Amino acid sequence: MSEKTFVEGLLAGRVAFVTGGGTGITGGVARALAEAGARVALVSRKMEHLEPAAEKIRAGGGEAFAVTADVRNMEEVEKALAATVEKFGKLDIVVNGAAGNFLCPAEELSPNGFGTVIDIDLKGTFNVCRAAFAELKKERGQILNISATLHYTGTPLQLHVSAAKAGVDALTRQLAVEWGHHGIRSNAIAPGPIEDTEGMSRLVPAEVKEKLRRNIPLGRFGRIRDIEQAAVFLCSDAASFINGAIIVIDGGQWLSKG
Ligand code: HXC
Repeated sequence: MSEKTFVEGLLAGRVAFVTGGGTGITGGVARALAEAGARVALVSRKMEHLEPAAEKIRAGGGEAFAVTADVRNMEEVEKALAATVEKFGKLDIVVNGAAGNFLCPAEELSPNGFGTVIDIDLKGTFNVCRAAFAELKKERGQILNISATLHYTGTPLQLHVSAAKAGVDALTRQLAVEWGHHGIRSNAIAPGPIEDTEGMSRLVPAEVKEKLRRNIPLGRFGRIRDIEQAAVFLCSDAASFINGAIIVIDGGQWLSKG
């Protein structure tokens, strides 16, 4: 398969706003949307993550714009969205990938630690969707949220993230129903263990990794590319009747948890 997205030009003319778009899975998603022809705004707290990612997209012939915002702060989100619309003229796609995570036993988790992850993952997703509504409505655009599979079963040390991602799933389905009437589709991707990500290297201890891999029916970890391809599809007209879906991309891992 070519290194480029499977259907080039699929998202030509579209404008995407991608939070967490500088690094990891959502960094890959932003690049893939650009490869498919979208102009992308990369959004996160740190310009040092964003500018190199934007530069890489530009070097590959795409159009990218780096803009800082903390998704927990509505004012910053609104400013970043306004800057994107000013730069690219409109907004068609929002990808909510900004996420916080650390391992912590529930009995040691502080209320602020719990709240911080809820604020980034869940409230941040709400803030971006809410702030983007008017522009998305104009274009009959799409929302794509990056969820997880942690909360399908019990995942030790991940209470805060599981609660946040369960909320992201609820929000995805709610908006599918409420905003579907405006032509706005709302979907999510729930990635399983994806190699070459900060989540895998920082959150999955080396001794657990091999056991985890053996439990994946397809016998390998996911690749960022696996998520990118689904993201491009879901954001394209090829998915024009898919609304409220949460697509699990994990090689069958959560179903086979021992
Ligand atoms: C316990 C912790 C902690 C830790 C932070 N806190 N790290 N508690 N263990 N390791 C607590 C702090 O003590 C504090 O509570 C509160 O959380 C806020 O911490 P701050 O550092 O002040 O907040 P902030 O600077 O906003 O940072 C938030 C952060 C962030 C969530 C900790 O730094 C972060 O997560 N960065 C990594 C981003 C990342 O990896 N993203 C990809 C996620 S991958 P108190 O009570 O002390 O004030 C993913 C995939 C899931 O989500 C699937 C994985 C397999």
